[in-house]
Amino acid sequence: MRFDNPILNHKFKRFTDIADYEEVKSEFRNERKEDLKPLRDAFKKKKLDKFNYSLDKIIEKTKKDLPISEKEENISLFFRKKLNQYFNFYKNFKINSRMIKSKIFTDLYSNGFHVCNLDLSKIMNKDIEKKYSILSKKKDWNPPPGTHDRWLELNPKSVSKIDKVFRESGLIKASEAYYAKKMRVTRVRMTVHRPSDKGWKHFFYDCKKVTRHTGIHIDPLEGVTKAMVYLDKVDKTKGPTFYLPKSNRFIYDPLKELFARSIVVSGRCSNKITRRAIFRLPKGIRGTMEFGRFIKDNSEIAKYLDKNLFCFTSDKGNTLLFDPGAGMHNGAVVKNGERIALMVVMDSI
Ligand SMILES: [Fe+2]
Repeated sequence: MRFDNPILNHKFKRFTDIADYEEVKSEFRNERKEDLKPLRDAFKKKKLDKFNYSLDKIIEKTKKDLPISEKEENISLFFRKKLNQYFNFYKNFKINSRMIKSKIFTDLYSNGFHVCNLDLSKIMNKDIEKKYSILSKKKDWNPPPGTHDRWLELNPKSVSKIDKVFRESGLIKASEAYYAKKMRVTRVRMTVHRPSDKGWKHFFYDCKKVTRHTGIHIDPLEGVTKAMVYLDKVDKTKGPTFYLPKSNRFIYDPLKELFARSIVVSGRCSNKITRRAIFRLPKGIRGTMEFGRFIKDNSEIAKYLDKNLFCFTSDKGNTLLFDPGAGMHNGAVVKNGERIALMVVMDSI
C-alpha cells in the first residue's frame, strides 16, 4: 500500500484546477492568490480548529465579491462537514501492510489489483436472479450525482455467502494483510450497466463535453478493497473495468488530496450552484479525485493512460480485486449490450 511502498515520481502529481474547464470559464471563482501554508500546517499538525479558522478567513473574503445564497450556503456546509470528516480520517490513516506470501497479496500490494476466476455457481442464488430481473426492467432515468443508473444491494444472506467464497479464495486474507486489519464482505451490489447510463458523467454533470477518459477516478473513501465480479461475458465494448497498475502507490500533496476527495462527495460540482461553493476555494486546492473529464483527448496524460491502463475483460478472469481509494480506475462505460456484475466491498469487521 502507498505508505510503505510509495511512488513519489508519477505523472499525476498536479491536480487540474477544475475552474479552468472550458465550459465553466464564465462562472464566478476566487481569483485571489491565497497563501495555503496556514491550511497546510494545520493539517500537518492535525489541528482542525486552526484549519477551519484559516479556511473561514479565505471564504469570508469572497463574500465581498459575491454574496452567498441560502442554497449555496447549504452546499457549503455539507462540503465543510465532509472536509472535516476526511481531515479526521487522515489524522490516523497511515498504514503499513502486513507482508504475507500470497500471489493475491503481492499483486494487490505491487499493482493495486489481482485477477482471478471464482466459482460463480457458489455465488449465484435467487436474490441475485430476482434483483437482475428488477434491474433489467428498470427504465432509463437521471440518477442524482453519487447514485447509479441500475444497482441494488443484495440481502445479508447473499453477502455472507459471498464472504465465504471470498474467504475460501484468499481474497479476504490478502485484503486484511494489505490494510493490516480484520475485514469481511460488508456489502454487495448487483449492477446492470447499459450504453444509456449517465452515472459515469456525474462530475460536472451539466457540461456537454465528454473526453475519452471521463469516468477515470479514485474513490473518495480509502481503507476498503473492492471486487468486481462479472456474471456474464465482458469484452471491450461492454464497459470493462480499467485500472492503472501501481497507481495505488502514488503519493500526492496531502492538502490537495484532502480537498480533492472532499470535493467529490459534495455534489460532484454537478451544477452552477454546487460549483460556486467549491470555486470560492483558491487555486491550488480546487482539484478532484474524479478527474477523468479534465484529461484532454490529445494530451500526454491521455496517451499515457491509453498505453498503460489495464483493461479487465472476462477472458482474463471473472473477478477483479482492487484498491479503489488509492488507485485509478473506471468502468462500465458500455458501448454495446449490457454489463452484469456484482460490486463487492470489503471493509473492517
Ligand atoms: Fe470507483
